[in-house]
Amino acid sequence: MHKTILITGATDGIGFETAKKLASLGHDLIIHGRNKEKLKSAQLKLLALTNVSKVDTMLADLSDLEAVKDLAATILAKYKSIDVLINNAGVFKTSATKNKQGLDVRFVVNSIAPYYLSQLLTPVLGKNGRIVNLSSAAQSPVNIDAMLGRVDLDDMLAYAQSKLAIRLWTHSFSLNSESPDCISVNPGSLLASKMVKEGFAIAGNDLSIGANIVSEIALSPDMAEHNGQYFDNDLGHFATEPLSKQQLTMAVDIIDTMQHIINND
Ligand SMILES: NC(=O)c1ccc[n+]([C@@H]2O[C@H](COP(=O)([O-])OP(=O)(O)OC[C@H]3O[C@@H](n4cnc5c(N)ncnc54)[C@H](OP(=O)(O)O)[C@@H]3O)[C@@H](O)[C@H]2O)c1
Repeated sequence: MHKTILITGATDGIGFETAKKLASLGHDLIIHGRNKEKLKSAQLKLLALTNVSKVDTMLADLSDLEAVKDLAATILAKYKSIDVLINNAGVFKTSATKNKQGLDVRFVVNSIAPYYLSQLLTPVLGKNGRIVNLSSAAQSPVNIDAMLGRVDLDDMLAYAQSKLAIRLWTHSFSLNSESPDCISVNPGSLLASKMVKEGFAIAGNDLSIGANIVSEIALSPDMAEHNGQYFDNDLGHFATEPLSKQQLTMAVDIIDTMQHIINND
């Protein structure tokens, strides 16, 4: 079935590779990026592929929660329905680790902005829609004070905590029967993106490993039965262990903290 799919961070790496795959399959795309020129260039490259119907663009810096709100408002004003939201944009290394609100940029871009966007776009996604959240094999217990910007973490720890946070809120989000289905995924470790080249100084594995699994989770009707679950593409299957009591408690704390940040209270 033909779908309308919004992909964040579609200007590079796994996001762009996924956009190429989905556009070639004839789906309508809304590609998001933070850099105007890079976004235009990605759009032109996608439109040059065969079988492509529509590629719309949306510009927003996801490290700024006001910009996330504006992005959602623009999308809501333009689209009555979106089938899939792929929360792909992510950051590992950054020169400025705090945003203008004093929050850790890694948590904002990797966990809070996707949560806020998912919440704001739920009216157009509806309960038949789907959200695909990019997590990672790198996961570490979340320090709520770090999420609130009160504790400074190194690149790896901030990244790993933000990636467990998105996995855990995915589970919580899926419990609401009125919400779209929500699945988190480790697309595969050390895939050849800018993030991996800059972060680990290695060439990395084929990006299509990530694009293929993200596309499959976005499109396959079989995935509906995995609402709330985490797919580990290094292992090639969904996590078999249920979340621990500790992780479920952490998920509640993460949602409370993100809601507090979003409400600015
Ligand atoms: N590559 C891997 O091996 C791997 C493994 C596990 C998980 N992941 C996850 O997969 C996702 C894609 O990563 P990637 O490896 O493809 O990295 P990438 O090539 O660096 O792409 C990241 C994308 O996110 C965008 N982005 C970064 N910060 C942003 C911000 N503040 N506002 C808006 N957009 C922003 C980037 O925009 P620009 O183009 O402007 O930089 C780019 O489009 C991430 O969530 C990452 O954590 C990757």
